[in-house]
Amino acid sequence: MGTPIRHFLQFADFSRDELEWVLERSRVIKDRFKRYEFYQPLADRTLAMVFEKASTRTRVSFEAGMYQLGGSVIHITTSDSQLGRAEPIEDSARVISRMVDVVMIRTYEQTKIERFAQYSRVPVINGLTNEYHPCQILADIFTFIEHRGPIAGTTVAWIGDANNMAYTWLQAARVLGFHVNVSTPPTYSLDATLAPPGPHFTVFDDPMDAARGAHLVTTDVWTSMGFEAENEARAAAFADWQVDSEMMQVAAPQAVFMHCLPAHRGEEVAADVLDGAQ
Ligand code: NVA
Repeated sequence: MGTPIRHFLQFADFSRDELEWVLERSRVIKDRFKRYEFYQPLADRTLAMVFEKASTRTRVSFEAGMYQLGGSVIHITTSDSQLGRAEPIEDSARVISRMVDVVMIRTYEQTKIERFAQYSRVPVINGLTNEYHPCQILADIFTFIEHRGPIAGTTVAWIGDANNMAYTWLQAARVLGFHVNVSTPPTYSLDATLAPPGPHFTVFDDPMDAARGAHLVTTDVWTSMGFEAENEARAAAFADWQVDSEMMQVAAPQAVFMHCLPAHRGEEVAADVLDGAQ
């Protein structure tokens, strides 16, 4: 038996030291790239990207990143592969992972990506599931650090749905040592199995209280992919959970606003906040 394969299926799969190394390494690679330094450590390596849900940013960032580092990508969707014809996940995992060096998957239940990883010969990266979106939060934290410095010890306000982004922020807070103030509508509150209570987060009924003093205010769509049937009910329940300029004013003076996009101006975020200086 060789070294066990490491996957990135949720944020807490990596330790604080490992994540800090990844963030520092990213900074070095980004600097080189911006200086047009040729750096292709992934020459001859292939990434398979499996999408069971739509994607814009995840596809473009992974694909561009692989090419920039010298590798190549194979883009697979449910509609143009055997995945849509109910091939068992175990079979797909065994076969795909024999021919590529790393696999990124965007799918529905977290259990699906876990099963794939269990039968994969190569590392598997979560490109979004119903429960988690670890690469997005890693990128958000990288960006926060670039603009504002270390995230440890800061307060992040999560306003809105208890979704994949929210659960990942909570894991990140626990691992990296910052605090999350969470405010969701009462009928869309956190699931305690995905967010076991701990000192790394506090729940607020009023979103204004959650935003007060926060260094980073963040939100996401009211209806995530896969939950479209709840659209109308959600629009009514979330009406008071819009991040607007009044909310940004109670946050810390240098607070930044972040949204993983796609955003709906006038719903979860006011246009002047999304397009504003913060
Ligand atoms: N919570 C959103 C994120 C989209 C990038 C969704 O799952 O649809």
